[in-house]
Amino acid sequence: MVKKVTKAVIPAAGLGTRFLPETKALPKEMLPIVDTPTIQFIVEEAKQSGIKDIVIVIGKGKRSIEDHFDSNPELEMNLEQKQKNDILETIRKTNDMNIYFIRQSHPRGLGDAVYTARSFIGNEPFVVMLGDDVMQDKVPLTKQLMDSYHKTGASTLAVKKVPHKDISKYGVIDPSEEVVPGLYNVKKFVEKPSPEKAPSDLAIIGRYLLTPEIFGILEQTKPDKSGEIQLTSAIDALNQTQRVFAHEFKGERFDTGNKLSWLKTNIIFGLRHDEIADGLRDYIVDLADQIQKKAKK
Ligand code: G1P
Repeated sequence: MVKKVTKAVIPAAGLGTRFLPETKALPKEMLPIVDTPTIQFIVEEAKQSGIKDIVIVIGKGKRSIEDHFDSNPELEMNLEQKQKNDILETIRKTNDMNIYFIRQSHPRGLGDAVYTARSFIGNEPFVVMLGDDVMQDKVPLTKQLMDSYHKTGASTLAVKKVPHKDISKYGVIDPSEEVVPGLYNVKKFVEKPSPEKAPSDLAIIGRYLLTPEIFGILEQTKPDKSGEIQLTSAIDALNQTQRVFAHEFKGERFDTGNKLSWLKTNIIFGLRHDEIADGLRDYIVDLADQIQKKAKK
């Protein structure tokens, strides 16, 4: 019998240099998608997947993440008195989750961030959820990985096809046979290869289900040229001693990790948002019209 997965690690200690100057004082994980901080989507995905305990790995300047997930009795009372039940429900959505925080004092890469959570995880399988990607599907992606793990008992990573020119931004798999539709055995996991060297266009997309043996490997993993301990390298080493699968995600993935894709994500979520969808659509149509007229001049 495989152990139940109940814990998640959310690394949020990165410096967020792609979003400077915004990230000088505010964490990139708190950047909103319309009105909701990105990290809230990740915690909600964990909740919908049946995860109970979450540890968020934070660093300097990340205190607002702790405040965001704390309850706010004064605000809640105020909203109750005004009978603003919808908003009240929204801000209480994750109040029933157990959310803990660990500090990573020196950012030394994703592998190191995950390693800091070892005592919290103990000898159990767990999930790692990266904040840059917001995933949407009928069954949450984390739950898909958990379902797969309950059948195989093996570590499983989420992957998705990305355009070949973008492949060097990701960890990439070298797949061997497809065991069942969408589940691959993997020969090799490579971190950020050049497009010429990439073994496939299947990129690792920020959701991992890992067995606790990863910690022993992370302990031995040497930093790369940039001084970072890569989770991908540790997973490649884990794959030498126990099987690691790749699960191809067929749902929607919204990248919030750079300025342009974050803005695009906001537009799409805005067009799906009850309160602003109509106004935003009219504005976009109008704007496209103006741009076209300008181009013709
Ligand atoms: C990290 C991982 C990479 C993965 C990516 C997904 O890279 O190191 O393997 O493909 O997340 O978003 P980062 O985006 O932090 O550079």
